[in-house]
Amino acid sequence: PAVDVSPYFDLDRGLVDRTIFSDQAVYRQELRRVFAPSWLFLAHESQFTKPGDFFTAYMGEDPVIVTMGKDRKLRAFLNACRHRGMRVCRADAGATKAFTCSYHGWSYDTSGKLINVPNGGDYPAHFEQDQWGLIEVAQLDTYKGLVFATWNPEAPPLVEALGGLTWYLDAMLDHDPEGTEAVGGVHKWVLEGNWKLAAEQFASDWYHVNISHASALMVMSPTGKGPKTDIVQTPGRQYTDSLGHGHGFPTHPKSRFDDRVVHEWTDYEALRERLGDARVEGPMTTGHGTVFPNFSYLPVNGSIRVWHPKGPDKMEVWAWTIVDKSMPDEVKNAQRIYNLRTFGPSGIFEQDDGENWSECQATAHGFVAGSMTLNYQMGLGLQSEDGVHPGTTGRLYSDGAARGFYARWRDLMNTPAWHEKNTEKNPEDTP
Ligand code: FES
Repeated sequence: PAVDVSPYFDLDRGLVDRTIFSDQAVYRQELRRVFAPSWLFLAHESQFTKPGDFFTAYMGEDPVIVTMGKDRKLRAFLNACRHRGMRVCRADAGATKAFTCSYHGWSYDTSGKLINVPNGGDYPAHFEQDQWGLIEVAQLDTYKGLVFATWNPEAPPLVEALGGLTWYLDAMLDHDPEGTEAVGGVHKWVLEGNWKLAAEQFASDWYHVNISHASALMVMSPTGKGPKTDIVQTPGRQYTDSLGHGHGFPTHPKSRFDDRVVHEWTDYEALRERLGDARVEGPMTTGHGTVFPNFSYLPVNGSIRVWHPKGPDKMEVWAWTIVDKSMPDEVKNAQRIYNLRTFGPSGIFEQDDGENWSECQATAHGFVAGSMTLNYQMGLGLQSEDGVHPGTTGRLYSDGAARGFYARWRDLMNTPAWHEKNTEKNPEDTP
């Protein structure tokens, strides 16, 4: 039976029970009620330039292949052979005409069709080969270069699911008509820690910056005065919505990119004309965001990443650097290196974050520590429309977007997904 997660939350009072980060039954339920019905990030469009290009990814814990067909259309399939379930593609990325299973040799083309079955003559007459193609996602769509898919045939269109966050996302994705591209491959690393710790932090946590990243900030502070003046007094806002997305950002009267080469190349006047002053001075600065449930980004670094769940205690981080296509090569390279130094697997900020999440998880299985109430009260009652940034925003230092994230997560966890409706399969599967 489904777990009723309502008792774990009192979000009106900013309270969350720690059980949601460690319970095995909760984890299994979020795979089928949070991940399976949601739009999930798969890849960047620039990873596919010709028919046959492919990239293997995950949707929740389901392995998938994303590939460009002969018709140049992007499709995504479950990376599981219909014969015994073996992964039909075991490479991270590449180009191919077909995916051939290395167990018994069933072979599928880039549109997912089963095109070859060794010893086919030994199957009975009623074996219908065209019924045994790879299982395709219900919907796949892109938003300004970002490829998302969902298993849910009833999910709203992607742009609707992104909702008001698109205004904020565009501060990273829409600098000019040429759009963005991914450079430098995909960095992957494993962390001890529940995936929600990372997703909620990127949605809403500017609070940790001054403390967790103090030493890095001392080194990088433009004034040399260290984090106290540069960070603590930084004004800014934090966007939250009912879809679970969040984006926090300091506001700078004069926009800046932190990497000097990128900063000097950037045409701020053109950006102000295209995106408006509020976006150039706000979401385009050193902010952070999460697209519910597990895609996050850092506009100034060009960092985009997915927090793949690997059990309640473990996540696998996949991180890309994206740059404006219109950048000259030396500027693209400067952005790539800057992102690696700060938020690559050994980046000076990334190290601090990973340490925090692992440490938070380490004690989560204790009887008392694992079910204690956590405080998400910062900024409670202080959210409103400010007339400058669309939607509901609150103070930069706030748990507002985390509360929004968990309200959405709680509602999905307590609602039978499309695959549970009108079926006798799980009659008791409702809290
Ligand atoms: Fe793939 Fe048998 S498992 S051909």
